[in-house]
Amino acid sequence: MAHGAITPAADLDGARFRQVMGRFATGVVAITAVEPGTGRPTGIAANSFTSVSLDPPLVAFCVAHTSTTWPRLRASDRLCINILGEPQLDVCRRLALKGGDKFDGIDWTESPSGAPAIDGALAWIECSVEQEHVAGDHVIVVARVHALDENHDGRPLVFYRGAYGGIA
Ligand SMILES: Cc1cc2nc3c(=O)[nH]c(=O)nc-3n(C[C@H](O)[C@H](O)[C@H](O)COP(=O)(O)O)c2cc1C
Repeated sequence: MAHGAITPAADLDGARFRQVMGRFATGVVAITAVEPGTGRPTGIAANSFTSVSLDPPLVAFCVAHTSTTWPRLRASDRLCINILGEPQLDVCRRLALKGGDKFDGIDWTESPSGAPAIDGALAWIECSVEQEHVAGDHVIVVARVHALDENHDGRPLVFYRGAYGGIA
């Protein structure tokens, strides 16, 4: 059978990488912890989250080396990964800010071991850092799940082509 050959449209630069990867629709999570020193909640928004293993229960996400919040999150024994719902765009935007009190205006409840479970999230996953693998300008964090639950059946916050949406 005859077939043609695909010609790449342009160089593999950062803009093209983002543009093409943006065609992969993802959910958005808030990765949170209570800072051991200050007792204050902090977190980052992330769309690089994935489930990894059932036995043992492991999940993973990628964090940029430039993150100023990650060193403070990883200093905590327990992280909470909150799967955000469609109405939680404001939570996502707040946690994506650099600096300031990221949790200002965000209501939360303690997970079983005290990590911040954000009110209104679709689900929460309590975990601890198991492994970190440096990969280019990010670190792949593998985390062990200790407890998890669903909160409600609302629609997920979806990130696609650099914009937010939902699933009907
Ligand atoms: C939708 C969305 C997804 C993001 N995903 C990631 C991610 O997977 N990994 C990451 O390191 N940063 C991600 N970010 C950026 C972080 O949320 C945050 O902006 C970054 O950590 C800078 O803040 P910091 O210096 O307080 O860490 C994402 C931001 C948004 C809005």
